[in-house]
Amino acid sequence: MSWSSAGGPGHIRGDGAVTAHAPAKVNVSLAVGPLREDGFHGLQTVYLAVSLLDTVTVRPGEGLSVSVTGEGTGGPDPVPTDRRNLVWRAAELLAEHAGVPADAAIAVDKTIPAAAGLAGGSADAAAALVALDALWGTRATRGDLTELAARLGSDVPFGLAGGVAIGTGRGEQLTPVLARRQWHWVLGIADGGLSTPAVYAELDRLRAAGRVPDGTAVPSPEPVLAALRSGPTAALAAALANDLQAPAISLRPALRRALRAATDAGAAAALVSGSGPTVAALADGEDAALRLAAVLAGEGVFRTVRVVHGPVPGARLVG
Ligand code: C5P
Repeated sequence: MSWSSAGGPGHIRGDGAVTAHAPAKVNVSLAVGPLREDGFHGLQTVYLAVSLLDTVTVRPGEGLSVSVTGEGTGGPDPVPTDRRNLVWRAAELLAEHAGVPADAAIAVDKTIPAAAGLAGGSADAAAALVALDALWGTRATRGDLTELAARLGSDVPFGLAGGVAIGTGRGEQLTPVLARRQWHWVLGIADGGLSTPAVYAELDRLRAAGRVPDGTAVPSPEPVLAALRSGPTAALAAALANDLQAPAISLRPALRRALRAATDAGAAAALVSGSGPTVAALADGEDAALRLAAVLAGEGVFRTVRVVHGPVPGARLVG
């Protein structure tokens, strides 16, 4: 059975709609190499998909339209509903690949905050690819979708894959990792996002000034993988690492206090998720995560906190 045939016409509801979910991610480790000629940085990361899901529903339409509800719809910098939204470009790319007209009404319901270092936009694009493949009957293979995903953004292939994976290249080249046990986290979500290109540029600046290592020494992902596979929590806590944490703190000094608040409140460890500003606080089990979230919510360091677990599957059809 091909992967996408799981999403055949059976997933189209009576009203013609198809719905897919996709997860947020935390980079359990993220080693960033020097700036490449193409403007990207070589990476070696270990991705973990966590149980904060966006929902994308697609319906027949004329031309493309995008609507967004949930997280990030208000405020001064709302999630765009035009071609700047990655789901729009995902639809165009899949239509072009399949030779079908790009006709769909795409509704994105967000629980993953935007510009938070959780790959929410990438999750939406991954879910849109899966949902539109079913709506349009394009029968794209998993390889096709992964290739389209890589063209959309560095984190989009992982939004499709989910689970645990090593990411290399600019993050888009994935090696899946089997990890059966669940990990419990509290995500501390800040008011206001951070721009990913700005955080990478700040890393380059800190490196040029000799304030952080230059990224030429690539650490082995083995300790973090071994810890993810079998624990204990203290081993994973010791292996968490993110080269984007220093530049994220440099741009948003309040993050230092937020990280300390998480460990003071009982987290086994805390790190900035991806390019931030979300803080991912590792808890020693589900009960510990609930207690940690209650303490952090009471302190008011974060706009909101979310208890999540992972690994969870990547983008998939619902219903
Ligand atoms: O691939 P994506 O669209 O998510 O990348 C957004 C920006 O983040 C890039 O334009 C680049 O500035 C930066 N980036 C990078 N190296 C990576 C991934 C992203 O420099 N591996």
